Amino acid sequence: MAQISIIGTGYVGLVYGVAFADLGNDVVGVDIDADKIEQLKAGECPIYEPRLPELLRSNLQSGRISFTTEYADAVPQSEFVFICVDTPSTPTGEADMRAVRSAATMLAGHLRDGAIVVNKSTMPIGSGDFVTSIISEHITDGREFSVISNPEFLREGNAVADVFHPDRIILGTDNDHDAVEQLKVLYRALDAPIVVTDRRSAEMVKYASNSFLATKLSFINEMAQICERVGADVSVVAEGMGYDERIGPHFLQASGGGFGGSCFPKDVRALAHIAHEADCHPQLLHAVMEINQDQRRRFVKRLQEKTGDLFQKDIAVWGLSFKENTDDMRESPSLDIITMMLSRGANVRAYDPAAMDRAREELPKVQLCGNPYDAATGADALCVITPWNEFKQANMGKVVEIMRNPVLLDGRNLYSPNVMTDLGFTYVGVGK
Ligand SMILES: NC(=O)c1ccc[n+]([C@@H]2O[C@H](COP(=O)([O-])OP(=O)(O)OC[C@H]3O[C@@H](n4cnc5c(N)ncnc54)[C@H](O)[C@@H]3O)[C@@H](O)[C@H]2O)c1
Repeated sequence: MAQISIIGTGYVGLVYGVAFADLGNDVVGVDIDADKIEQLKAGECPIYEPRLPELLRSNLQSGRISFTTEYADAVPQSEFVFICVDTPSTPTGEADMRAVRSAATMLAGHLRDGAIVVNKSTMPIGSGDFVTSIISEHITDGREFSVISNPEFLREGNAVADVFHPDRIILGTDNDHDAVEQLKVLYRALDAPIVVTDRRSAEMVKYASNSFLATKLSFINEMAQICERVGADVSVVAEGMGYDERIGPHFLQASGGGFGGSCFPKDVRALAHIAHEADCHPQLLHAVMEINQDQRRRFVKRLQEKTGDLFQKDIAVWGLSFKENTDDMRESPSLDIITMMLSRGANVRAYDPAAMDRAREELPKVQLCGNPYDAATGADALCVITPWNEFKQANMGKVVEIMRNPVLLDGRNLYSPNVMTDLGFTYVGVGK
């Protein structure tokens, strides 16, 4: 059993804290957000993530996890201190390291001798040195510590399963092999391949992985555009490509709005920024981002082509979170798409199975509905943006009846074009 502090109890830190507790460790989650900590202490899960609420409550009850806003209540007894704070984009695209700086500063005063600080947040190349120097500045009594880079790859919506069954664990150290051995023991229960490398390579693995996945998505979205022009079907093209073991079937689903979320857009931007700083010219990364923005504009253009002027049209939107099974709306395609619709004078009515609370803050001008059918009633077009199961299983026969104009923009290719056309929809898929 290890003593662990988790600094930052968001989408990553909370899932990790609960998972480490469930594996039998003694965990304290620390966050500067006092409301979030109160919720967590009461056993309320502040995010929508399948299986997380049950795990949170059972580990709270067993006393293996607790929460605090005070570093002093957590860090002094911890062998491992995981930094899981946010690293969002700055306006220039670089990673904003203010939360990391503040976390490193605050934990430094409380570290016990020999503690291992784990950089789990996605941080730019060289952040292992950055965190080490901040902590060193604040330690004047000779206490020793290590900083290991251990980037995270979990997927929101599948985070609990991903944390218990990771594809790989990356551990980056420049000289501290003893700390790496201790982390290997902590991770032993997860039975995943462990790659040990230097800190900069570990940091780069994270950015390169996310940029590669984003590249695959922009690639298939570009193929979708070409398919539309030449009379091919991108879904079949992707299936045919995916059987090739060198390509694989994953991340080849075209989407009308492109990719979003708290990671891909910001990490591609941050890597491009890192590349520029290093005197490189990251052409591919720029193309990936440009294609992604174009997807959103093209989606609204298609909508306009099918409905005419959007001024005073009633547009229904299904799906606001950036992907299914999460309430996370950070950089969700829905935000850009809806903003464009509103700026053209459309009235937007939307429904999402999990993101309604966040949508109230993010999209105050949108009328939020209690179910997908209310959103579609009387609409001049229905735009499906997020592929929730609830939408796949919707009664589309009912939907075609309740709409004023049954135009369906299926941004995730959820439905059969033939079936939808037979039902009476004017159907527009992606890359078809
Ligand atoms: N969300 C994902 O799917 C995912 C996946 C892999 C990696 N990551 C990376 O993990 C990091 C965290 O992402 P997230 O989505 O969990 O972010 P988040 O915004 O959900 O959570 C961050 C938490 O840190 C807290 N915090 C900020 N400063 C703090 C401080 N000084 N002390 C204590 N707490 C502080 C915030 O209040 C917040 O609760 C980011 O670097 C992200 O890129 C995220």
